Amino acid sequence: MKPLRIAQISDFHVTHLTWNPLRLFSKRILGNLNWVFHRRNRFSEEPLRALIPLLPKLELDWIFLGGDLTTTSLPEEFAKAKAIVNQFPAPCIAVPGNHDHYTYPAYYQKRFYRSFANPTPDSPFRLAEHGVEAHRLNSSYWLVALDTALATNLYSSRGLFSEQQEASLRQLLTSLPPNASILLLNHYPFFQNDVRRHSLKGGEKLEALIRKEPRIKAYLHGHSHRHTIADLQPSGLPLLLDSGSAADQEIGTWNLLTLDDEKIQIDLYRWNGQWRLSSSEQIFWQRKS
Ligand SMILES: [Fe+2]
Ligand SMILES: [Fe+2]
Repeated sequence: MKPLRIAQISDFHVTHLTWNPLRLFSKRILGNLNWVFHRRNRFSEEPLRALIPLLPKLELDWIFLGGDLTTTSLPEEFAKAKAIVNQFPAPCIAVPGNHDHYTYPAYYQKRFYRSFANPTPDSPFRLAEHGVEAHRLNSSYWLVALDTALATNLYSSRGLFSEQQEASLRQLLTSLPPNASILLLNHYPFFQNDVRRHSLKGGEKLEALIRKEPRIKAYLHGHSHRHTIADLQPSGLPLLLDSGSAADQEIGTWNLLTLDDEKIQIDLYRWNGQWRLSSSEQIFWQRKS
């Protein structure tokens, strides 16, 4: 079988500042102030634009986008993020982050989904309607994408794994082949050791579901902006891969994943004025379907 090659990229935080008072009458004012005081020197579109000539050299089959493609969910930000993604050389599957459902109007208008339409899923469930959908990646691998982001009050960036979503996910997993190898893509990590107001409500239920489902080989996420590879297979959980933020000028990262039936290779790319391959690691699957 030809190995599957996937770029895991996340947390663009593309920004369009507005000081129009009508558009600031929301959580957006906090987002703008946060950007001006904390993030202006941190996030840049330069690393994102530098991906455009690099990615075509990597023979990618798929690109997974882990959310927070925008900062305050403005249409201008979605347009800028989409203009970059449109130049990527492989089909993209995107999940929204909390910054893509930043305000209540953006959330209820499904602004994210109007900009980032995934290929038609291979499941009756749709991310925009049910918060979950599945894509067949090749003869062995499936991607299950989750949307656990929602608009929240001023100080919270919590996500929610709801009971309804849990029921849909269980039903969807039942419909996948018994020998499928599943990758799960979500903006939020499921573990609860992050600051409570930034974490995923219901994360422990998602963890329990994943623990009982050995077909799930890896859990891919963003949100924390810290690159992490955590092989939790010895403790009954999948491999956790946090790709970090690809737009962070200081610690920008993303992963090139190469998968065959037995293992995954993770090539870590780091930003240092240009993208460089920083390290490679191979991990063999231990969870048996
Ligand atoms: Fe983020
Ligand atoms: Fe986030």
